[in-house]
Amino acid sequence: MLERCAALACQSELAGGLTRVFLSREQAAANELVLGWMREAGMSAKLDAIGNVVGRYEGERPGRPALLLGSHLDTVRDAGKYDGMLGVVSAIECVADLAARGRRLSFAIEVIGFADEEGVRFSSTLLGSRAVAGTFKCEVLDSVDADGVSMRAAMRASGLDPERIAQAAHRREDVLAYAELHIEQGPVLEAEGLPVGVVTAINGATRFAIEVEGIAGHAGTVPMNLRRDALAAAAECVLAIEQRCAKVPELVGTVGKLETLPGAVNVIPGRVRFTIDIRSPRDPERLAAVTEVVAQMETIAKRRGVAIKVSKTHEGNVAKCAPWLQEQIGAAIAAEGIAVRKLPSGAGHDGMAMIDLCDIGMLFVRCKRGISHNPAEAITAEDAQTGVRVLLRFIENFRPQARV
Ligand code: GLV
Ligand code: MN
Ligand code: MN
Repeated sequence: MLERCAALACQSELAGGLTRVFLSREQAAANELVLGWMREAGMSAKLDAIGNVVGRYEGERPGRPALLLGSHLDTVRDAGKYDGMLGVVSAIECVADLAARGRRLSFAIEVIGFADEEGVRFSSTLLGSRAVAGTFKCEVLDSVDADGVSMRAAMRASGLDPERIAQAAHRREDVLAYAELHIEQGPVLEAEGLPVGVVTAINGATRFAIEVEGIAGHAGTVPMNLRRDALAAAAECVLAIEQRCAKVPELVGTVGKLETLPGAVNVIPGRVRFTIDIRSPRDPERLAAVTEVVAQMETIAKRRGVAIKVSKTHEGNVAKCAPWLQEQIGAAIAAEGIAVRKLPSGAGHDGMAMIDLCDIGMLFVRCKRGISHNPAEAITAEDAQTGVRVLLRFIENFRPQARV
């Protein structure tokens, strides 16, 4: 599994680092690797209409409803090797083990390598899992990347037909549940000396793209009191976000991207674009912070005489992992002689979209110092093995339950 994650990490836009975004050449190469591994493991495998890699291992009888497994194959910029990829390769490993023993279950298994979870290229996130869940919004096809390429055009260039995205959707009656193995991306399991844990819920998140418009001007001639500096206004907004989010336990707010235009040492910034990501384990607290932050930014803009455009790019409420799946994942952990630790996820996952299709469950694997979204992301082979043993045990003992 670690070798496979390393092989996937070679499919990168950057030499010597890992960046792989939706519909890129690197993603097509990674998809080919995964399709090959899926077939080798005994699955039929194909790309679906949005570009997810989907492998299917039939049950005792073909056409049975499926337990969906998997994670994402896209990455953030300068990413680690395991965020997403470990969930895909570990699920393939489980199927390979079943197939090697000739074991068919009463249900089918589908392993999905989602094409976009991080939302790096088009600012809109969970595109692959939304297509599978049947909640993909066609208007996002008009969004453009940093080079002005629309998602619609990028899909066509990748040989995908944007008119057919609906074909990626699964029918509810064909799906039993979605279960994902993922690295924890935080320090809790390591601090407690545990290799794995059961996720209770995925925190909710709201994201914005902001544009501040001031007046570009000569850095030497315009007196300070006559400026409409878009960057100074944005800087005040960034600090307001930090202060508001720091007031509430477990609420977090991040400005992760900021672009200054025209961007020259002797020009007053005329336009600034930045992103906001606000998350919390409690939806009302997140929504209150969002409302307040937007109002504060508007006040700052008014006082400084600049215009501000606020566009929401993502809104996802807390996604609760189904108690019955938590229980079955917990039982698999306990059967390995490991204490069952339950914990929420501060990071977002494909389950946030899959929950519109079926119940979701997640298994976390410890990661070194809790570091993720960073090339220093690391796990041990032992922990990966423990994770896959737990996942396989969960699959073999899986008892579907009707959604309530
Ligand atoms: C995805 O990793 C996210 O939490 O943003
Ligand atoms: Mn991530
Ligand atoms: Mn991830």
